[in-house]
Amino acid sequence: MSELPNTTTQIETSAAAICSSVHAAKRSGATVGFVPTMGALHQGHLSLVEASLAECDKTVVSIFVNPTQFSPNEDLESYPRPLEQDFRLLEKLGCWVVFAPPVEEVYRQKHETTIDVGSVALPWEGASRPEHFGGVATVVLKLFQIVPADRAYFGQKDYQQTLVIQQMVADLNIPVEIRVCPIVREPDGLAMSSRNAYLLPEERAQAGQLWKSLELAESLVAEGERRVTTIREKMKNLLASSEQIELEYLAFLAQGTVREVDAIEQPTVVALAARVGRVGRVGRVGRTRLLDNHTIGMKNEGRRAEATESRERGA
Ligand code: PAJ
Repeated sequence: MSELPNTTTQIETSAAAICSSVHAAKRSGATVGFVPTMGALHQGHLSLVEASLAECDKTVVSIFVNPTQFSPNEDLESYPRPLEQDFRLLEKLGCWVVFAPPVEEVYRQKHETTIDVGSVALPWEGASRPEHFGGVATVVLKLFQIVPADRAYFGQKDYQQTLVIQQMVADLNIPVEIRVCPIVREPDGLAMSSRNAYLLPEERAQAGQLWKSLELAESLVAEGERRVTTIREKMKNLLASSEQIELEYLAFLAQGTVREVDAIEQPTVVALAARVGRVGRVGRVGRTRLLDNHTIGMKNEGRRAEATESRERGA
Protein backbone atom coordinates (compact mmCIF):
# COMPACT_ATOMS: atom_id res chain seq x y z
CA MET A 1 0.00 0.00 0.00
CA SER A 2 2.59 2.49 1.11
CA GLU A 3 5.20 2.98 -1.61
CA LEU A 4 6.82 5.70 0.47
CA PRO A 5 10.19 4.73 1.93
CA ASN A 6 10.39 4.27 5.66
CA THR A 7 12.24 7.47 6.45
CA THR A 8 13.33 6.28 9.88
CA THR A 9 16.14 4.12 8.41
CA GLN A 10 19.50 5.59 9.38
CA ILE A 11 22.92 5.15 7.80
CA GLU A 12 25.64 4.78 10.41
CA THR A 13 29.35 4.80 9.72
CA SER A 14 30.63 4.91 13.31
CA ALA A 15 31.22 1.60 15.11
CA ALA A 16 30.91 3.19 18.56
CA ALA A 17 27.61 4.88 17.67
CA ILE A 18 25.91 1.76 16.28
CA CYS A 19 27.18 -0.28 19.23
CA SER A 20 25.63 2.06 21.75
CA SER A 21 22.36 2.30 19.76
CA VAL A 22 22.07 -1.50 19.78
CA HIS A 23 22.79 -1.69 23.53
CA ALA A 24 20.20 1.02 24.18
CA ALA A 25 17.58 -0.76 22.05
CA LYS A 26 18.19 -4.01 23.92
CA ARG A 27 18.00 -2.27 27.30
CA SER A 28 14.62 -0.89 26.30
CA GLY A 29 13.47 -4.49 25.70
CA ALA A 30 13.69 -4.64 21.89
CA THR A 31 15.14 -7.70 20.13
CA VAL A 32 17.74 -6.85 17.51
CA GLY A 33 18.45 -8.84 14.34
CA PHE A 34 21.61 -8.41 12.30
CA VAL A 35 22.31 -9.19 8.62
CA PRO A 36 25.98 -8.84 7.61
CA THR A 37 26.50 -8.26 3.87
CA MET A 38 29.00 -6.91 1.39
CA GLY A 39 26.23 -4.98 -0.42
CA ALA A 40 25.17 -5.11 -4.09
CA LEU A 41 21.99 -6.44 -2.56
CA HIS A 42 19.69 -8.87 -4.34
CA GLN A 43 16.65 -10.85 -3.27
CA GLY A 44 18.90 -13.42 -1.54
CA HIS A 45 20.20 -10.76 0.84
CA LEU A 46 16.75 -9.23 1.18
CA SER A 47 15.27 -12.59 2.20
CA LEU A 48 17.62 -12.57 5.21
CA VAL A 49 16.51 -9.03 6.02
CA GLU A 50 12.87 -10.11 5.75
CA ALA A 51 13.52 -13.05 8.11
CA SER A 52 15.06 -10.67 10.62
CA LEU A 53 12.24 -8.14 10.28
CA ALA A 54 9.72 -10.93 10.89
CA GLU A 55 11.49 -12.23 14.03
CA CYS A 56 13.08 -9.16 15.61
CA ASP A 57 11.87 -5.72 16.67
CA LYS A 58 14.77 -3.91 14.99
CA THR A 59 17.01 -4.95 12.11
CA VAL A 60 20.56 -3.80 11.43
CA VAL A 61 22.16 -4.54 8.05
CA SER A 62 25.88 -4.01 7.54
CA ILE A 63 27.34 -3.24 4.13
CA PHE A 64 31.09 -3.70 4.17
CA VAL A 65 33.27 -5.12 1.39
CA ASN A 66 35.75 -6.82 3.69
CA PRO A 67 39.27 -6.60 2.22
CA THR A 68 40.73 -9.38 4.41
CA GLN A 69 38.57 -12.10 2.84
CA PHE A 70 39.85 -11.38 -0.70
CA SER A 71 43.18 -12.71 -1.96
CA PRO A 72 45.41 -10.23 -3.82
CA ASN A 73 44.40 -11.70 -7.22
CA GLU A 74 40.65 -11.51 -6.50
CA ASP A 75 37.94 -8.95 -7.28
CA LEU A 76 38.15 -6.61 -4.25
CA GLU A 77 38.59 -3.51 -6.42
CA SER A 78 35.88 -4.39 -8.95
CA TYR A 79 33.36 -5.74 -6.41
CA PRO A 80 30.11 -3.80 -7.08
CA ARG A 81 29.28 -1.05 -4.57
CA PRO A 82 25.86 0.46 -5.46
CA LEU A 83 25.46 1.93 -1.97
CA GLU A 84 22.62 4.33 -2.69
CA GLN A 85 20.52 1.70 -4.41
CA ASP A 86 21.18 -0.74 -1.52
CA PHE A 87 20.13 1.86 1.00
CA ARG A 88 16.87 2.54 -0.86
CA LEU A 89 16.03 -1.18 -0.86
CA LEU A 90 16.66 -1.47 2.87
CA GLU A 91 14.71 1.70 3.61
CA LYS A 92 11.74 0.34 1.70
CA LEU A 93 11.78 -2.86 3.72
CA GLY A 94 11.88 -0.94 7.00
CA CYS A 95 15.38 -1.58 8.33
CA TRP A 96 16.33 0.28 11.45
CA VAL A 97 20.00 1.03 10.75
CA VAL A 98 22.35 0.39 7.83
CA PHE A 99 25.93 0.17 9.10
CA ALA A 100 28.20 1.11 6.20
CA PRO A 101 31.62 1.90 7.65
CA PRO A 102 34.77 2.90 5.79
CA VAL A 103 37.61 0.35 5.94
CA GLU A 104 39.54 2.40 8.56
CA GLU A 105 36.56 2.23 10.92
CA VAL A 106 36.69 -1.57 10.96
CA TYR A 107 40.45 -2.18 10.66
CA ARG A 108 42.67 0.22 12.53
CA GLN A 109 46.15 0.52 11.02
CA LYS A 110 47.72 -1.66 13.69
CA HIS A 111 45.20 -4.50 13.29
CA GLU A 112 46.95 -7.88 13.55
CA THR A 113 44.55 -10.35 15.20
CA THR A 114 42.91 -12.99 13.02
CA ILE A 115 40.48 -15.76 13.85
CA ASP A 116 41.36 -19.30 12.83
CA VAL A 117 38.37 -21.59 13.33
CA GLY A 118 40.28 -24.79 12.57
CA SER A 119 39.38 -27.84 10.51
CA VAL A 120 35.97 -26.74 9.19
CA ALA A 121 37.67 -23.91 7.30
CA LEU A 122 40.34 -26.05 5.63
CA PRO A 123 38.81 -28.05 2.76
CA TRP A 124 36.73 -26.95 -0.27
CA GLU A 125 36.45 -23.16 -0.20
CA GLY A 126 39.30 -23.07 2.32
CA ALA A 127 41.56 -25.04 -0.01
CA SER A 128 40.66 -22.91 -3.04
CA ARG A 129 40.95 -19.62 -1.15
CA PRO A 130 43.41 -20.19 1.73
CA GLU A 131 42.99 -16.80 3.46
CA HIS A 132 39.28 -16.45 2.83
CA PHE A 133 37.71 -17.93 5.98
CA GLY A 134 40.26 -16.30 8.29
CA GLY A 135 39.10 -12.97 6.85
CA VAL A 136 35.41 -13.90 7.08
CA ALA A 137 35.63 -15.14 10.69
CA THR A 138 37.66 -12.12 11.77
CA VAL A 139 35.29 -9.57 10.25
CA VAL A 140 32.16 -11.38 11.42
CA LEU A 141 33.49 -11.53 14.99
CA LYS A 142 34.33 -7.82 14.80
CA LEU A 143 30.85 -7.07 13.40
CA PHE A 144 29.27 -9.10 16.22
CA GLN A 145 31.20 -6.93 18.70
CA ILE A 146 30.13 -3.74 16.95
CA VAL A 147 26.50 -4.87 16.49
CA PRO A 148 25.75 -7.01 19.58
CA ALA A 149 22.46 -8.32 18.18
CA ASP A 150 20.29 -11.14 19.56
CA ARG A 151 20.18 -12.99 16.23
CA ALA A 152 22.27 -12.93 13.07
CA TYR A 153 21.12 -14.14 9.66
CA PHE A 154 23.22 -15.98 7.06
CA GLY A 155 22.41 -17.71 3.77
CA GLN A 156 22.66 -21.44 3.07
CA LYS A 157 24.09 -20.27 -0.29
CA ASP A 158 27.48 -20.04 1.46
CA TYR A 159 27.15 -23.40 3.21
CA GLN A 160 30.72 -23.72 4.47
CA GLN A 161 30.66 -20.10 5.66
CA THR A 162 27.66 -20.92 7.88
CA LEU A 163 29.64 -23.83 9.40
CA VAL A 164 32.65 -21.59 10.00
CA ILE A 165 30.50 -19.01 11.75
CA GLN A 166 28.60 -21.57 13.82
CA GLN A 167 31.92 -23.12 14.91
CA MET A 168 33.32 -19.73 15.92
CA VAL A 169 30.16 -18.73 17.80
CA ALA A 170 30.17 -22.02 19.75
CA ASP A 171 33.94 -22.07 20.42
CA LEU A 172 34.14 -18.44 21.52
CA ASN A 173 30.86 -18.31 23.51
CA ILE A 174 29.51 -15.48 21.39
CA PRO A 175 26.02 -14.60 22.69
CA VAL A 176 24.20 -14.51 19.35
CA GLU A 177 21.74 -16.92 17.80
CA ILE A 178 22.68 -17.89 14.24
CA ARG A 179 19.86 -18.34 11.75
CA VAL A 180 20.51 -19.94 8.35
CA CYS A 181 18.03 -19.07 5.58
CA PRO A 182 17.31 -20.91 2.31
CA ILE A 183 18.96 -20.14 -1.03
CA VAL A 184 17.04 -17.71 -3.23
CA ARG A 185 17.29 -18.51 -6.94
CA GLU A 186 16.65 -16.84 -10.29
CA PRO A 187 13.78 -18.25 -12.39
CA ASP A 188 16.19 -20.67 -14.18
CA GLY A 189 17.53 -21.86 -10.81
CA LEU A 190 20.83 -19.95 -10.76
CA ALA A 191 21.54 -19.02 -7.12
CA MET A 192 21.40 -15.25 -6.72
CA SER A 193 24.82 -13.73 -6.16
CA SER A 194 26.31 -10.24 -6.38
CA ARG A 195 28.89 -11.77 -8.72
CA ASN A 196 26.23 -12.84 -11.27
CA ALA A 197 26.49 -9.25 -12.50
CA TYR A 198 29.91 -10.13 -13.93
CA LEU A 199 28.42 -12.71 -16.34
CA LEU A 200 28.18 -11.95 -20.06
CA PRO A 201 24.83 -12.98 -21.63
CA GLU A 202 26.23 -16.26 -23.00
CA GLU A 203 27.85 -17.09 -19.67
CA ARG A 204 24.67 -16.23 -17.82
CA ALA A 205 22.72 -18.63 -20.05
CA GLN A 206 25.14 -21.49 -19.30
CA ALA A 207 25.33 -20.74 -15.56
CA GLY A 208 21.79 -22.10 -15.19
CA GLN A 209 23.30 -25.57 -15.74
CA LEU A 210 24.82 -25.50 -12.25
CA TRP A 211 21.34 -25.76 -10.75
CA LYS A 212 20.30 -28.29 -13.41
CA SER A 213 23.15 -30.53 -12.19
CA LEU A 214 22.02 -30.21 -8.56
CA GLU A 215 18.45 -30.99 -9.60
CA LEU A 216 19.74 -34.04 -11.44
CA ALA A 217 21.38 -35.27 -8.22
CA GLU A 218 18.09 -34.84 -6.40
CA SER A 219 16.11 -36.72 -9.02
CA LEU A 220 18.63 -39.59 -9.15
CA VAL A 221 18.28 -40.01 -5.39
CA ALA A 222 14.50 -39.84 -5.69
CA GLU A 223 14.72 -42.69 -8.22
CA GLY A 224 16.64 -44.72 -5.67
CA GLU A 225 20.27 -44.10 -6.63
CA ARG A 226 22.50 -43.97 -3.54
CA ARG A 227 26.06 -44.20 -4.94
CA VAL A 228 27.92 -40.90 -4.92
CA THR A 229 30.30 -42.03 -7.69
CA THR A 230 27.36 -42.58 -10.05
CA ILE A 231 25.63 -39.32 -9.16
CA ARG A 232 28.89 -37.35 -9.42
CA GLU A 233 29.64 -38.85 -12.83
CA LYS A 234 26.21 -37.93 -14.21
CA MET A 235 26.43 -34.40 -12.84
CA LYS A 236 29.89 -33.97 -14.37
CA ASN A 237 28.64 -35.24 -17.74
CA LEU A 238 25.80 -32.74 -17.67
CA LEU A 239 28.15 -29.87 -16.83
CA ALA A 240 30.71 -30.98 -19.41
CA SER A 241 28.19 -30.14 -22.13
CA SER A 242 28.54 -26.44 -21.19
CA GLU A 243 31.88 -25.42 -22.60
CA GLN A 244 32.02 -22.24 -20.51
CA ILE A 245 31.68 -24.05 -17.17
CA GLU A 246 34.72 -25.45 -15.42
CA LEU A 247 34.01 -27.31 -12.20
CA GLU A 248 36.45 -26.55 -9.39
CA TYR A 249 35.03 -29.00 -6.86
CA LEU A 250 31.92 -31.11 -6.43
CA ALA A 251 31.54 -32.41 -2.89
CA PHE A 252 28.95 -34.64 -1.23
CA LEU A 253 28.99 -33.67 2.45
CA ALA A 254 27.14 -35.08 5.44
CA GLN A 255 24.74 -32.24 6.34
CA GLY A 256 26.23 -29.92 8.96
CA THR A 257 29.81 -31.00 8.20
CA VAL A 258 32.55 -30.74 5.57
CA ARG A 259 33.01 -34.53 5.62
CA GLU A 260 32.48 -36.42 2.34
CA VAL A 261 30.13 -39.38 2.12
CA ASP A 262 30.18 -42.13 -0.49
CA ALA A 263 26.51 -43.04 -0.31
CA ILE A 264 23.38 -40.95 0.18
CA GLU A 265 22.07 -42.56 3.36
CA GLN A 266 21.37 -39.32 5.22
CA PRO A 267 20.75 -35.66 4.36
CA THR A 268 23.71 -34.70 2.18
CA VAL A 269 24.78 -31.27 0.96
CA VAL A 270 25.98 -31.37 -2.63
CA ALA A 271 28.30 -28.36 -2.81
CA LEU A 272 30.05 -27.06 -5.90
CA ALA A 273 32.27 -24.24 -7.09
CA ALA A 274 32.76 -23.48 -10.76
CA ARG A 275 34.36 -20.94 -13.03
CA VAL A 276 32.07 -19.59 -15.71
CA GLY A 277 33.43 -17.99 -18.89
CA ARG A 278 35.80 -18.76 -21.71
CA VAL A 279 39.30 -19.81 -20.72
CA GLY A 280 41.50 -16.75 -21.03
CA ARG A 281 38.58 -14.31 -20.70
CA VAL A 282 40.05 -11.03 -19.59
CA GLY A 283 37.32 -8.41 -19.17
CA ARG A 284 36.72 -6.71 -15.83
CA VAL A 285 37.23 -9.72 -13.59
CA GLY A 286 38.12 -12.65 -15.84
CA ARG A 287 36.11 -15.82 -15.38
CA THR A 288 33.45 -15.60 -12.67
CA ARG A 289 33.67 -18.02 -9.76
CA LEU A 290 30.23 -19.16 -8.58
CA LEU A 291 29.13 -21.35 -5.65
CA ASP A 292 25.99 -23.38 -5.21
CA ASN A 293 24.70 -26.25 -3.11
CA HIS A 294 21.60 -28.32 -2.58
CA THR A 295 20.58 -30.73 0.16
CA ILE A 296 19.54 -34.17 -1.04
CA GLY A 297 18.65 -37.40 0.72
CA MET A 298 16.02 -35.80 2.92
CA LYS A 299 13.45 -38.17 4.43
CA ASN A 300 10.60 -37.17 2.08
CA GLU A 301 12.81 -37.97 -0.94
CA GLY A 302 13.27 -41.45 0.47
CA ARG A 303 9.51 -41.80 0.68
CA ARG A 304 9.17 -40.54 -2.91
CA ALA A 305 11.70 -43.16 -4.00
CA GLU A 306 9.88 -45.89 -2.12
CA ALA A 307 6.62 -44.81 -3.74
CA THR A 308 8.27 -45.02 -7.17
CA GLU A 309 9.68 -48.46 -6.42
CA SER A 310 6.37 -49.78 -5.18
CA ARG A 311 4.64 -48.37 -8.28
CA GLU A 312 7.23 -50.14 -10.40
CA ARG A 313 6.63 -53.38 -8.50
CA GLY A 314 2.92 -52.83 -9.11
CA ALA A 315 2.24 -52.59 -5.39
P1 PAJ B 1 27.62 -11.51 0.88
O1 PAJ B 1 28.20 -12.33 -0.20
O2 PAJ B 1 27.19 -10.11 0.58
O3 PAJ B 1 26.40 -12.30 1.49
C1 PAJ B 1 25.73 -11.81 2.62
C2 PAJ B 1 24.77 -12.88 3.08
O4 PAJ B 1 23.79 -13.14 2.08
C3 PAJ B 1 25.50 -14.23 3.34
O5 PAJ B 1 25.00 -14.81 4.54
C4 PAJ B 1 25.11 -15.03 2.12
O6 PAJ B 1 25.13 -16.44 2.33
C5 PAJ B 1 23.70 -14.54 1.86
N1 PAJ B 1 23.29 -14.81 0.48
C6 PAJ B 1 23.97 -14.52 -0.66
N2 PAJ B 1 23.30 -14.99 -1.74
C7 PAJ B 1 22.19 -15.60 -1.27
C8 PAJ B 1 21.09 -16.29 -1.89
N3 PAJ B 1 21.02 -16.44 -3.21
N4 PAJ B 1 20.11 -16.78 -1.10
C9 PAJ B 1 20.19 -16.62 0.25
N5 PAJ B 1 21.18 -15.98 0.90
C10 PAJ B 1 22.17 -15.49 0.15
O7 PAJ B 1 28.78 -13.59 2.72
C11 PAJ B 1 29.24 -12.45 2.76
O8 PAJ B 1 28.69 -11.38 2.09
C12 PAJ B 1 30.46 -12.10 3.58
O9 PAJ B 1 31.32 -13.20 3.64
C13 PAJ B 1 30.11 -11.62 5.03
C14 PAJ B 1 29.41 -12.72 5.85
C15 PAJ B 1 29.23 -10.36 4.99
C16 PAJ B 1 31.42 -11.26 5.77
O10 PAJ B 1 32.11 -10.28 5.10
